[in-house]
Amino acid sequence: MSAAHLTLNPHFVVGDVHRRVFGSFVEHLGRCVYDGIYEPGHPAADEEGFRTDVLDLVRELGVSTIRYPGGNFVSGYRWEDGVGPREDRPRRLDLAWHSTETNEVGLHEFARWNDKAGSELMLAVNLGTRGVQEAIDLLEYTNIRSGTALSDQRVADGTLEPFRVSMWCLGNEMDGPWQLGHRSAEDYGKIASQTAKAMRQLDPSVELVVCGSSNSQMPTFGAWERTVLEHTYEDVDFISCHAYYAEKDGDLAGFLASAVDMDRFIESVVATADHVKAVLRSDKTINVSFDEWNVWYQERFHTEDQITDIEQWPYAPRLLEDQYSVADAVVVGSLLISLLKHADRVTSASLAQLVNVIAPIMTEPGGPAWKQTSFFPFALTSRLARGQVLRPELTCGTYRTEAHGEVPLVDAVATHDPDTGATAVFLVNRSVDETVTVTVDLGSLGVVGLQEAHTLNDEDPYAANTLTEPTRVAPVDNKSAVVEDGTLTVELPPVSWTALSLG
Ligand code: AHR
Repeated sequence: MSAAHLTLNPHFVVGDVHRRVFGSFVEHLGRCVYDGIYEPGHPAADEEGFRTDVLDLVRELGVSTIRYPGGNFVSGYRWEDGVGPREDRPRRLDLAWHSTETNEVGLHEFARWNDKAGSELMLAVNLGTRGVQEAIDLLEYTNIRSGTALSDQRVADGTLEPFRVSMWCLGNEMDGPWQLGHRSAEDYGKIASQTAKAMRQLDPSVELVVCGSSNSQMPTFGAWERTVLEHTYEDVDFISCHAYYAEKDGDLAGFLASAVDMDRFIESVVATADHVKAVLRSDKTINVSFDEWNVWYQERFHTEDQITDIEQWPYAPRLLEDQYSVADAVVVGSLLISLLKHADRVTSASLAQLVNVIAPIMTEPGGPAWKQTSFFPFALTSRLARGQVLRPELTCGTYRTEAHGEVPLVDAVATHDPDTGATAVFLVNRSVDETVTVTVDLGSLGVVGLQEAHTLNDEDPYAANTLTEPTRVAPVDNKSAVVEDGTLTVELPPVSWTALSLG
């Protein structure tokens, strides 16, 4: 058995727990919208066709902000197709996912669903096939009360009050050759700056996210961020990061250390943004919107398998329906630890995605909805993390990985609410075969006792929840956790993620 020690102190503050870090993402892709959140014929559907069983799970997940409508989809999307009388809405070919888009769900329907879910709406504009004019048209439609052509059209379309959308993404993954309207950093930087300026002329309160790299392995990574920010630094508030992880070639130990890569990714983007800040002698600081992150087994998805016939573009096909294991959920929990550890600069993030498509929630048409393994670390972290993030001073063993070099066996972060004293500690044991005993020096936190101790692990790290066995995996109470004389002691089984709450 190995040992680790963590020291916490209420004065070691990284930053606030930003609720927007618990955001998610709904794209018109596969069965995320159609046969996911929306299935009018389902026994649990409400009067608008939304599945109430899915809504219950979304609320339990504790999702703060939802990014919509894409993703790659947005780069070919005409937002006007999704408003006005449903019977007049066009059917379109969605080039990004080779599907038929019926536009039954558009802005009004999604905004109403979002209200029911209790989440904030975050929109992306199309800078792939469209530009400045369409972006400001959409902003006028969503954020102006009335008295102009487009705001009056919104009222006529059924929504009296403006949607008042604050967070806006200036396109999606524009560095990716797969993206409709993919551009060079120079070209994207120019159109993003023009779009941002125009949007702010219309509504100065908007918060704008400029596209960073699609992942840190892109050949243009680093240079892309620098050039794009040189063009847009004073026009935007956030730069985006996207990252997806997967176990490759049976390297479970390397996969469990994926958050090491996320840490380095965030720190590189922050350093690049701060470099541009120095060169421009700016007073402003750009933060990170990590608006796509998750585990995703991309090698299981082949676009060529999907495109079977040019005349047949499927409606709501089963795409990217990854089934998540315990190990995948442990990685999701550790990626959340990484996001929280960077609370000084990562102030918004979106788990990609929410329902059916690389998602914590799965559904069957006409059938049940259930929680994937990844549901649990997200829901518990969103519920328990409160107040401020504390810098974890951690000592523990290390191990070598092919993918990330020498990495710590354990990772941890804590949050503390100075008003209520509520404290939460999140821990991951990356060892594939060793239990680790962790002692946590609670210092001057004033903690009087343990309230909750949840651990997610299993004898079989590849165990999963499925349609036939939807409750196979769930966190269990960790009975080893005790608080004595200002020290918390807890045993972490191999390949596990743990959340503790102290009062
Ligand atoms: O989330 C799935 C896809 O991953 C998104 O559409 C795209 O932005 C990213 O490449």
